[in-house]
Amino acid sequence: MTDDLKNRERWKIMAECHDAMAPYLVPGYDWLQTEALEFTGALRDDSPLVLDLAGGSGLFLEKLLSSNETARAVWLDSSEAFLAVARKKLDRFGDRVTFVASRLEDNWKALLNEAPSHIFSMCAIHHLTHDEKRQVYQQAFDALVSGGWFCNIDEAIPRSESTYLRAMDFWVQHVYSNQESVPERLWSLRDEWMAHFEKWKIRNVDQHDQPKEKGDDLHAPISDQLEWLEAAGFQEVDTHVKYHLWSIMGGRKTV
Ligand SMILES: C[S@@+](CC[C@H](N)C(=O)[O-])C[C@H]1O[C@@H](n2cnc3c(N)ncnc32)[C@H](O)[C@@H]1O
Repeated sequence: MTDDLKNRERWKIMAECHDAMAPYLVPGYDWLQTEALEFTGALRDDSPLVLDLAGGSGLFLEKLLSSNETARAVWLDSSEAFLAVARKKLDRFGDRVTFVASRLEDNWKALLNEAPSHIFSMCAIHHLTHDEKRQVYQQAFDALVSGGWFCNIDEAIPRSESTYLRAMDFWVQHVYSNQESVPERLWSLRDEWMAHFEKWKIRNVDQHDQPKEKGDDLHAPISDQLEWLEAAGFQEVDTHVKYHLWSIMGGRKTV
């Protein structure tokens, strides 16, 4: 199976599951989204144009568009299955949201009608190779208006291997202890998600020292990613928030 086909199949299975389960089983999911929207001003600014790279089922943009009624948004992702779920969720916002089908590896900047004031991405860029991550950071810088913010809310490697493994284990324990809090009406989606998570755990936790390939979690060190953001041209680059495996790494375009 080609990489593209493997990815398509994987995300087809995940679209509805992820939409229903992320708020329960990804630690700090809602909180991290709100933090990123808060500190970049997207919730309070007048008429921001927010691009969500690998926007998935639309949970992030739903939060933005329902909290800031002057905001407009662009959802961008390569998965048809996630597009279907996102359209259903974001339909009520009418022409305040537009949908762009693209891979992050491609020239998505050329598909935008207008330069965004904010670009976010959550739980996605870590699937790209490190070179591709660097290219996404550069493309985000080039795409933004002057003064715009870019934030990658993502899984990343902290300074030490032991902290990394503890952060991974924190997620595993979080999932095991929170699965009971999922409402009964969602149990079939939860069980599907858990089956996927068990495979993820074997590949990424139990076999963490095995070589990785595209499509795996290709976590990169936070320190490298901050350097890549600076090399792309961003200022005010930092790990603005860190919560176990997740960091909000980003910066501002000031030129
Ligand atoms: C775990 S989901 C996260 C979705 C959403 N950002 C969230 O936080 O809920 C990963 C998303 O990344 C998308 N994705 C993965 N690889 C991609 C790529 N190379 N180009 C574009 N989208 C990609 C998938 O289609 C999926 O929607």
